[in-house]
Amino acid sequence: MSTEKKVALISGANKGIGFETARQLGQKGITVILGARDLAKGEAAAAQLGQEGIDARAVKLDVVDATDIANVAALIEKDYGKLDILVNNAGVSFEGLGANTTLTTSEEVLRKTFDTNFFAVVAVTKALLPLLKKSEAGRIVNVSSILGSLLLHATEGSPIYEAKVFAYNASKSALNAFTIHLAHELKGTSIKVNSAHPGWVKTDMGTDAAPMELVDGAKTEVELATLGPDGPSGGYFHLGDTLPW
Ligand SMILES: NC(=O)c1ccc[n+]([C@@H]2O[C@H](COP(=O)([O-])OP(=O)(O)OC[C@H]3O[C@@H](n4cnc5c(N)ncnc54)[C@H](OP(=O)(O)O)[C@@H]3O)[C@@H](O)[C@H]2O)c1
Repeated sequence: MSTEKKVALISGANKGIGFETARQLGQKGITVILGARDLAKGEAAAAQLGQEGIDARAVKLDVVDATDIANVAALIEKDYGKLDILVNNAGVSFEGLGANTTLTTSEEVLRKTFDTNFFAVVAVTKALLPLLKKSEAGRIVNVSSILGSLLLHATEGSPIYEAKVFAYNASKSALNAFTIHLAHELKGTSIKVNSAHPGWVKTDMGTDAAPMELVDGAKTEVELATLGPDGPSGGYFHLGDTLPW
């Protein structure tokens, strides 16, 4: 079975930027599948969007769990026959700013951070690529961060020069490398893949100190998820501006 309606999967969509991205995609008439590692939280989030008139459902997707990934791919294949939009949004940060140096960051924290922010994105994307290829215009959005910019980290005086949070930053740089490599491989197809920096957004991760509201924090993801045929691929963006890698 294949549906005419566009279908989007957003990981880590039970709260924060992922939830708001699902809402804004849903408001555009797109069927949104909310990935959540805690299905009950995902179902509560989907029910809230349903009450707002959005076609939303939840799936259990712990992005570091190979069985969950395979189950979600099988479910989307069975129920929709294709996937139009994949937003790799689920992400973690275990370090406070200035808490650790490269030498004091534990290997455990490095590995745990990379497991979710990098390896899981590669695994989820790999599993869903066959379904994205069945879409007329597949869109992949890797939710990165400006903190993944190697150039800005190496440039004294840049806005993030002092924000050295090693494991998180390095994991987002690696994620950006995935965007570039995948976009290269998908050149000549109708699939576009880009990295998004949402901004510093009020969420559990961003904290209340963040200047941006959720509604604006989802805009970059939504824009990249709904790019037209002339839109970019293999880029790194924040609210329409290109960021340096
Ligand atoms: N907020 C900011 O200022 C900011 C800035 C730049 C980039 N970002 C990026 O934006 C994305 C969303 O962040 P946020 O601010 O919305 O954070 P958040 O409120 O902490 O939400 C993170 C989401 O990711 C989910 N998640 C974490 N590990 C997961 C796993 N193994 N499997 C499935 N889901 C998992 C969480 O699920 P649980 O509820 O189960 O924990 C939650 O739904 C992240 O990739 C983050 O790095 C955020």
